[in-house]
Amino acid sequence: MNGPGKGNDNGKGYALVTGASGGIGAEFALQLAASGRALILVGRKRERLERTLGALRGPRAAESLVMPADLSEQGAASRLHAECAARGLIVETLVNNAGSGVFGAAVDSDPEAVEAMLRLNVQALASLSALFGRDMKARGAGEILNVGSFAGLQATPYFAAYAASKAFVLDYSLALRAELAGTGVKVTCLLPGYVRTAFDANAGVGSPAYLKFSEANSLDAATVARIGLGALARRKAWTIAGARNRFAAALFSLLPRSIPPRIMRAALERLI
Ligand SMILES: NC(=O)c1ccc[n+]([C@@H]2O[C@H](COP(=O)([O-])OP(=O)(O)OC[C@H]3O[C@@H](n4cnc5c(N)ncnc54)[C@H](OP(=O)(O)O)[C@@H]3O)[C@@H](O)[C@H]2O)c1
Repeated sequence: MNGPGKGNDNGKGYALVTGASGGIGAEFALQLAASGRALILVGRKRERLERTLGALRGPRAAESLVMPADLSEQGAASRLHAECAARGLIVETLVNNAGSGVFGAAVDSDPEAVEAMLRLNVQALASLSALFGRDMKARGAGEILNVGSFAGLQATPYFAAYAASKAFVLDYSLALRAELAGTGVKVTCLLPGYVRTAFDANAGVGSPAYLKFSEANSLDAATVARIGLGALARRKAWTIAGARNRFAAALFSLLPRSIPPRIMRAALERLI
């Protein structure tokens, strides 16, 4: 069985990681490189991607490259796929990790910020999965790891659109996995809870109490990336990172769907 890092074709393919300029994505890249993969690093900021590139260690690290792209732009996924094809780069492993959040009351949110988030979290992820998944299916081998969130398991007040986008990621991934069963293409969805990255700050979370709570309950990015790649290697459909998150998810799943959002609202309003 191919694990992450073993490749699927002739060992000359690439692992493409979106959001590789920091946070969990940079850790995915470091771990994939360490296990023998050459990387295509995608994100908006070239200099931060090049920092990740310079930190890669592994037998094929030197073959790795950066491809700066704003995946919230219309058509960005198709352009990225076309660039890989034009350069003859075979993507054996796709890690759809890039994602952003917009924090705050839904009715007070900036619609344009929410739209950009949805294009990144939903549209780019679906398009990249479809475009590279089609190639993998034709080759009879490949692996796709999509990064959802614990927040996607229940409606989450103050992260309403973000949580809904992550519900999409899980449902889309499970459907894609079922469609591709028997083709040689693996699909796994990783659901992290709080992770120590720039995510909260980028999402506009300003409350010291919230930040303290999320920090106290978070896993580090390297651990979360390891859990995701491990689940992909074991062909798991999905995995929730962290025992505490798995316990909370199990509890919430026993309740009517209207109850967890009320619990989350009460919890969050104590923090913001
Ligand atoms: N941190 C958490 O608590 C947490 C919890 C659950 C799930 N997640 C999920 O984990 C994934 C990684 O998040 P993280 O915590 O590592 O956050 P992060 O530190 O903010 O990193 C996000 C990454 O996505 C890239 N990105 C953002 N907007 C982009 C765009 N428009 N086009 C291309 N790349 C873009 C960023 O790079 P550039 O700025 O260079 O574009 C960065 O590399 C996300 O999908 C997030 O939803 C995070």
